[in-house]
Amino acid sequence: MTTTRFQSAAEAPAGTDQRKLHVVTFGCQMNKYDSLLVEGKFKGQGYATTDSMDDADVILFNTCSVRDHAEERTFSWLGELKRAKESNPGLVIGVMGCMAQRVGEEIFQRAGHVDIVAGTRKFQHMTELVDQLLERRADPDTWRARDLRLVATGVEEDVEFERGAMNYTGGQHAYLAVMRGCDLNCTYCIVPTTRGRVQSKPIDEIVSEAQWMVSQGAKVITLLGQTVNSYGEDFAKPEGDAPRGSGRQGRPSLGDVLRRLQQVEGLVRIRMITMHPAYLTQDLAEAIRDCSKVDRFLPIPAQAGSDDVLRAMKRGYTTDLYRKRLAMLREIVPDAELGSDWIVGFPGETDEDFEQTLAFAEEVGFVVNYVFKYDPRPTTHAADELPDDVPTAVKKERNQRLLKKAEEIATLRLGRYVGQTVRVFVEDESDRAEGVLHGRSVHGIPVSFAGDPTLIGTEVEVAVQQASAYGMHGVVVTGEEAALTR
Ligand code: SAH
Ligand code: SF4
Ligand code: F3S
Repeated sequence: MTTTRFQSAAEAPAGTDQRKLHVVTFGCQMNKYDSLLVEGKFKGQGYATTDSMDDADVILFNTCSVRDHAEERTFSWLGELKRAKESNPGLVIGVMGCMAQRVGEEIFQRAGHVDIVAGTRKFQHMTELVDQLLERRADPDTWRARDLRLVATGVEEDVEFERGAMNYTGGQHAYLAVMRGCDLNCTYCIVPTTRGRVQSKPIDEIVSEAQWMVSQGAKVITLLGQTVNSYGEDFAKPEGDAPRGSGRQGRPSLGDVLRRLQQVEGLVRIRMITMHPAYLTQDLAEAIRDCSKVDRFLPIPAQAGSDDVLRAMKRGYTTDLYRKRLAMLREIVPDAELGSDWIVGFPGETDEDFEQTLAFAEEVGFVVNYVFKYDPRPTTHAADELPDDVPTAVKKERNQRLLKKAEEIATLRLGRYVGQTVRVFVEDESDRAEGVLHGRSVHGIPVSFAGDPTLIGTEVEVAVQQASAYGMHGVVVTGEEAALTR
């Protein structure tokens, strides 16, 4: 797991010969977090980061494999660097992340100018790998091109970081990976292959990392994990004096993480992505209820609303089980709003199955929906065993219909807030309309309102006047006014 030791990062030496790093990040928030960790490590070694590839000495790609398109985009970016490498042979090009893990050294076959491939449990060694490569380049005996390429894709090691970043959080919104990996085996999904099994970060480390982020200016922390609510499942059953928690068999749980983070002074909001319905426990629901800093927006992807499709996906629940978990959650946290991911055109999905998905989305009332067309990923069970039998045109049509339905659902749900007052964390100023601020309600919904930029970074109460499928608009109310309209 990512353990993070804290060091006061030495200021990078100034001067014209300072080496420069540029990182290109694809994929999910975990990759954004990992890219920041890597940048931090390079900065700790004296590198500067640059926004331009043209003056970088080291260019790293942090990659995604979840759909084919994500990998193709990376290869197309890599292709564009071929010329840059020819005109600057000193350039170092590294590929890390999920595609590096999945494709490994075959990346060299399609992109011969790549120097380093480091997988999801090896990328923490990127600075050492770059140093090693430079040493080999400088050694006249290393003449074979093969010796000038480095590959590290083993999965046996924990991800460990010594933090060297000077401004890691980059502002008021920080990511913090509390767990990595996934122990489930949804038949369509490459993530368990690329990220490996669940590894949770000990609570004390999470708390000190959060405190450190807050000391760097963070006010909102988003807790990340591929199945974030399976946090703690990998811990040994606590015995003797070992710290006990409220998870299964006394293990520390995500609920315990929330309760500890609630105490972190200066931290204003806590968000979480992504949850799996199978791990939605009463303990977690109670922790959300008890912790005022925790957002009432929960991404708990359903993926489909047909039991046949869910079974073929091996999601581990039926729509009824999902309903039961949701009923428990809504009883304990009545103001929870949900988000979902959906896959349309899964092998064998009939019109009837798809109608059930539309109906289920409506029944639950998800406010945020991401819809994906099924894409067979090599080595997954679905790709190997189930024919990709829904024609592309049908996938496209279902995609459109579900998006339209999602828009209708969100319009209705957000419309419920008109006339109510919601608590909003103020994030930034609109760059399109002067004097307009943007924030997010505790239900994760974007809210805009007129206000002074000094409010950025604080929480305000906003009386909602208008709503669409994508956000709400209102006016700031304070003190008594807020109490009256609640
Ligand atoms: N851990 C999360 C999902 C991570 S992948 C969960 O369990 O919900 C992000 C999303 O990509 C998934 O929710 C799924 O909707 C989509 N996805 C994953 N594999 C896919 C595939 N082979 N084809 C299309 N969409 C896919
Ligand atoms: Fe993939 Fe399923 Fe794990 Fe999510 S829960 S990461 S969809 S295998
Ligand atoms: Fe992509 Fe890996 Fe994240 S496959 S979505 S970068 S976990």
